[in-house]
Amino acid sequence: MTTSNTQCRLVARPVGLPKAADWEITREPLPEPGEGEFVVEVEYLSIDPAMRTWMNAGRSYVPPVGIGEVMRALGIGHVTATRHPGFAVGEQVSGVFGVQRYAVSDGDGVTKIDTAAGPAPLHLGALGISGLTAYFGLLDVGRPEPGDTVLVSGAAGSVGSVVGQIARINGARAIGIAGGADKCRWLVEEAGFDAAIDYKTADLRAELKAHAPNGIDVFFDNVGGAALEAALNRLARGARIVLSGAVSQYNDAPRGPANYMQLLVARASMTGFVIFDYAERYPEGVAHLSEWLRTGQLRSHEHIVRGGIEDFPATLLELFNGGNRGKLILALDP
Ligand SMILES: NC(=O)c1ccc[n+]([C@@H]2O[C@H](COP(=O)([O-])OP(=O)(O)OC[C@H]3O[C@@H](n4cnc5c(N)ncnc54)[C@H](OP(=O)(O)O)[C@@H]3O)[C@@H](O)[C@H]2O)c1
Repeated sequence: MTTSNTQCRLVARPVGLPKAADWEITREPLPEPGEGEFVVEVEYLSIDPAMRTWMNAGRSYVPPVGIGEVMRALGIGHVTATRHPGFAVGEQVSGVFGVQRYAVSDGDGVTKIDTAAGPAPLHLGALGISGLTAYFGLLDVGRPEPGDTVLVSGAAGSVGSVVGQIARINGARAIGIAGGADKCRWLVEEAGFDAAIDYKTADLRAELKAHAPNGIDVFFDNVGGAALEAALNRLARGARIVLSGAVSQYNDAPRGPANYMQLLVARASMTGFVIFDYAERYPEGVAHLSEWLRTGQLRSHEHIVRGGIEDFPATLLELFNGGNRGKLILALDP
């Protein structure tokens, strides 16, 4: 029987890629719920590029993880003990439980998993924050029209793969940028993209010219850097750039696009958005995503790594070396 809680704590602010010395694995006695609280045994950890940004000091959309604190993470688990009237033992729940085996929660921000809609990992992928980011980012910020050309960077990832599929569902053409021939083949043959460009080998400018002869109407940017610069040079008049993230910049001092004046030339906009601002509309997004999954118009892909809490640091690095296809999840060994 488990008698201790294993945790992964941030003990130093990384410079560049996070390294082993930035983390400490600690063990504590199993937590007990206080009045109005419950304990969750975490089974699935969502591994997100944004984690790297939460490790930095400085202004962001959430406070940084403090030195010595358990690393912040979204997860899914079962309630194992409760003194909360709204959460019963055995219920499967999703919340920001941290990189630890057991978490205490007062229910704030915690949702119950509708297992009828799909298994737990799906609720971290296409039916979770990734799917919702794709849904609201593309449809609310990018606003593609039928026939538009939608370009997506990080296209074989969790958010990007859903963006391209939603673009297609809405009658737009979807072009993906991803690393490697296998990912590009998967995007076209399995995820239904119209075209995919391997940024590791291709001449991005030439490929964009070939695949978007009339220009890019919507660019959903997950990556920044060279992809953003190439897309800026190919914008259609009135284009919308959805600034979802900039994973190519998370481990370096970010650099802005030198050619940002292309926004002016194309009368284009570039809009940053944070999915948490759409919290009140999540039910609308989940309803559409569920329906598309049910009808087979949308496919979800989860990349599940099995291991323990001590495997979190290495699993996080997979995001930055392109090791994942679809939603990266650490499934904790029982
Ligand atoms: N705005 C919001 O509210 C919000 C919410 C959730 C996520 N996001 C953002 O959405 C983006 C995607 O997140 P995700 O969870 O779906 O991750 P993901 O795309 O599943 O994983 C990250 C991918 O980024 C690519 N990548 C890593 N380093 C790169 C580099 N130097 N250059 C180009 N590509 C690189 C890798 O694919 P390749 O093999 O193709 O290189 C990797 O698979 C991130 O920028 C994240 O911050 C934003």
